[in-house]
Amino acid sequence: MNNDNYNFKRFRRLRYNPIIRDMIRETELSKNDFIYPLFVMPGKKVKNPVKSMPGVFQFSIDTLVAECKEVRDLGIPAVILFGIPEKKDEQGSEAYDPDGIVQKAIRAIKKEINDLLVITDVCMCEYTSHGHCGVLDGEEILNDETLILLSKEAVSHVDAGADMVAPSDMMDGRVHAIRQALDDKGYYKTPIMSYAAKYSSGYYGPFRDAAESAPAFGDRRSHQMDIGNIEEALREVEADIDEGADIVMVKPAGPYLDVIREVKQTFNMPTAAYQVSGEYAMIKAAGQNDWIDEERVMIESLTAIKRAGADMFLTYFAKDMARWIDKNR
Ligand code: PBG
Ligand code: ZN
Repeated sequence: MNNDNYNFKRFRRLRYNPIIRDMIRETELSKNDFIYPLFVMPGKKVKNPVKSMPGVFQFSIDTLVAECKEVRDLGIPAVILFGIPEKKDEQGSEAYDPDGIVQKAIRAIKKEINDLLVITDVCMCEYTSHGHCGVLDGEEILNDETLILLSKEAVSHVDAGADMVAPSDMMDGRVHAIRQALDDKGYYKTPIMSYAAKYSSGYYGPFRDAAESAPAFGDRRSHQMDIGNIEEALREVEADIDEGADIVMVKPAGPYLDVIREVKQTFNMPTAAYQVSGEYAMIKAAGQNDWIDEERVMIESLTAIKRAGADMFLTYFAKDMARWIDKNR
């Protein structure tokens, strides 16, 4: 057959046998990669399905603790908490209330479970009546005034027992402000995972249903990044590292693989990626219609994010993935 002198490569030699395929795979998902996002709200025995995110719920503290046990039993090492407060106001005061919903949830989880890492999202938009990520002057989100509230929020989470804080607000200087506030209280051992390159994305739509945090007017373009920019992402990440971030995050994940790769290669930092609500919702919806094989696409989407350079991901698929790993390995 190969009767000229051209020696082509036989890549398929390593593809016929499934054992060999498993041996040469460069990127494989591990349970240690996963951080599971959870939404907590007031009440008892609440487990409200989020319509646009099949399999995702709003929990009250009692059902949240049960969910955290299940998450831990599945071998998922970490959760990130988002709060839906009892009442919202202009200043988002429940965000930094020692008896706020997230602070109470952390205490309840820590009382029952000692081997689950509890990370908290630090932002104002879930707590403000206007749904913006900071305090307003008219329609402008004030930067430096917001830093004071974010710092109080982060400290109150760690006071309650949070293991790590994750500022998602995209105010300038927030990592520095939070680092300093934590250090001042003696919390120098608590790491910061910053949402460092966070884009102003249409993929956050379903999350805003889950967290009830859609802005009452306007949008988030005055603080989140423009979708066309990657050099700016590197400047954002560099600044967060300089200010004291221990882990840097790119968000969303799937549509921003180039940014993940560039951030990882440029800074060699522990790098997280957030596979956001819209990415999850699209895969779920197409899967439920039998338009794609949901399980395959779940694995493929997360493998791509890891292959691009992410060391860990925040994903609503964490439980499904952990079950898949148990079944298949
Ligand atoms: C809060 C925050 C948001 C997300 C994480 N933290 C919403 C937003 O910025 O509008 C989005 C997560 C997701 O879509 O899954 N600022
Ligand atoms: Zn916000």
